[in-house]
Amino acid sequence: MKRRDVLNGLAMAAAVPAMAKVAVAQETEQLKPQKTASVEGCVALVTGSNRGVGLGFVNVLLERGAKRVYATARNPKNFPAVVALDPSRVVPLELDVNNDAQRQAAAEQARDVTWVINNAAYPGSRIPEERRIRSASSLDDSKMVMETNCWSPAEIARLFIPTIINNGGGAVANVLSAASWFCLPEYSSYSLSKAAAMMMTNGLRAELDRDPILVASVFTGGVDTRASPAGTSGGISPNEHAHQVFDAMARGDTDVYAAGSKGMRDMINADPEAFERGRIKRFYESPLTIPQSHIVIV
Ligand SMILES: NC(=O)c1ccc[n+]([C@@H]2O[C@H](COP(=O)([O-])OP(=O)(O)OC[C@H]3O[C@@H](n4cnc5c(N)ncnc54)[C@H](OP(=O)(O)O)[C@@H]3O)[C@@H](O)[C@H]2O)c1
Repeated sequence: MKRRDVLNGLAMAAAVPAMAKVAVAQETEQLKPQKTASVEGCVALVTGSNRGVGLGFVNVLLERGAKRVYATARNPKNFPAVVALDPSRVVPLELDVNNDAQRQAAAEQARDVTWVINNAAYPGSRIPEERRIRSASSLDDSKMVMETNCWSPAEIARLFIPTIINNGGGAVANVLSAASWFCLPEYSSYSLSKAAAMMMTNGLRAELDRDPILVASVFTGGVDTRASPAGTSGGISPNEHAHQVFDAMARGDTDVYAAGSKGMRDMINADPEAFERGRIKRFYESPLTIPQSHIVIV
C-alpha cells in the first residue's frame, strides 16, 4: 500500500467517530421532545420545604409567580415560618416522605398540583461507619437512606403523575446530587441512593416522554445548608440554587446542573479514575465530616 493511501485510510478512520458523533447528536436533538417548564402560574409541591434547598425552592417559586405552593414537611412545628412567606399562596402539608398514608393523603388533598419537587433527603447516620458498606454494623441505615432518597420520591412521583396530566401537564424535578456520578466514601449510602435515584429519574423520563411532563434530574453541587459537610463551604445560597434550577427547566433542560456541578462533571469526564482516586485519598487523609446539627429528630 502506498504511503498516501495509508495516510488517507488513517484520516478516514479518525473521521468516522467524529461523523458518528454528529449524527448521534442530531438524532438526539430530533428525538428530544420540546418540553419546557416555567414557574409562572404553576402549582408546586415541595418535599422537605422547611429548610435548606427546599426552603429556597419555596421562596423562589413565590418570587417567580407560582399560583400555589404546597410546602410539605414532616414536622408541623415548621409550618408557621413557611406559611408566613405568603399566607395566601403557601399551603402547609404534613408529609414524611416515607409514610405511605401521608403520601396518599397529600395526593388526595393537593389535586391542583402541576409540579412536584422531590427535594427531601436523608444523608445517613451521624455515625460515620454506619454510612459505609464494610464498616457498618448492619445495612439498616443504608436501606433507610435508599428508601428516603430513591423509593419515596418514586412513590410520590407515581402518585402525582395522573394529577399533573389531568391538570394539563407540568414537571417532576428530582433533586439528585453530583454524588450521583461517583462515590463519596464518607457517604457511601448517600451516593448509592442518589445514583439509584438518577436511574429512577431516567426511567420516569422515558415513560413520560409522550406526556406533557418535563422530568428533570437536578444535579446539585454545593449549596450552603445545614447538611453541607464541614470543609465544603463556598456553596451558593438555596435561593440562588433554585433560580439556576428554574432557569434550566424553563430552557427545557432535563439534566440540570446547579451550584457548580457542571465543573465536577467535566472533571470526571476528563479522567474518571483520577477523580475517584482523589476522593479515596481524601477519605483516608482528611475525610469530610457531617455536621452534628444535620439530623433533626422529630
Ligand atoms: N446542600 C448541598 O450542598 C447539596 C448538594 C447536593 C444535593 N443536595 C440535595 O438537596 C436536597 C436538600 O438538601 P439540603 O442541603 O437542603 O439538606 P437539609 O438541610 O438536611 O434538608 C433536608 C430536608 O429533607 C427533609 N427530610 C429528611 N428526611 C425526610 C423525610 N423522611 N420526610 C420528609 N422530609 C424529610 C428534612 O426535614 P427535617 O428538617 O424534618 O429534618 C429537610 O427539610 C437533598 O435532596 C440533597 O441530597 C444538597
